[in-house]
Amino acid sequence: MRMTNLRIFDDKTQLAEAAAQTSIELLHRAIDTYGSAIWVLAGGSTPLLAYKIIAANHATALDWSKVTLVMGDERIGPLDSPDNNWQAADAIIGFLPTNKIRPQSDLSAEQAAADYNQQLANLPTIDNGLPRFDVLWLGVGEDGHTLSLFPQHGGLSPSSELVVPIHDSPKPPRDRISLSLRALQGTQNALVLASGADKKQAVTAAQTGLSLPIALATSIITTHEGTVHWFVDKEAAPTD
Ligand code: 6PG
Repeated sequence: MRMTNLRIFDDKTQLAEAAAQTSIELLHRAIDTYGSAIWVLAGGSTPLLAYKIIAANHATALDWSKVTLVMGDERIGPLDSPDNNWQAADAIIGFLPTNKIRPQSDLSAEQAAADYNQQLANLPTIDNGLPRFDVLWLGVGEDGHTLSLFPQHGGLSPSSELVVPIHDSPKPPRDRISLSLRALQGTQNALVLASGADKKQAVTAAQTGLSLPIALATSIITTHEGTVHWFVDKEAAPTD
């Protein structure tokens, strides 16, 4: 299996600039088509850099009031914790006049997942009844995790829910919530953002098999006719 839509950049900044630019174009297209756009954010340092570029260079590029922000996964803990994915993104792009669907991640993982399920159920859907994610950002962990879906872990079990509680995460904190694999079936465009040499193995593995969550997630999206765009830097680029 060869990755299509693979773009390789000299460094993380160029990657983030291109991801920002592509996302703006895709959000624009969704607004033209549907009158609104849904953007699923990601935690991690590569997305944070891209948020900064959007805040600095693209703040007037869109009618942001037509964009709804969702977070793909969240860590359980105080909402103002430095660990909080939403808080980190919101500190940079929160000034944009978007609609915001924030995870209530100061609840237990079960309660927060149930609450976020309910909030996401109000989003516009595609034909299969699942929320239409016009742009979804996915980070990649060294172990091949994406969202808070870790290898050989409970979050990968089939679920009828859009959001699942995660316990005993191999990466701290141990309690989290995450979009489920099922929720990904409404994704129109996913951008996988991976930079640094420690991601090379996971990115390479994603080309050849389905054993890692990032490979599974992207495969589910393409199976449901979404497009996956890989944005990697030279260090994370897959080996042939
Ligand atoms: C988390 C992070 C994590 C992250 C990846 C990639 O909640 O633990 O969001 O899943 O997305 O580890 O992070 P980088 O972009 O910093 O490499």
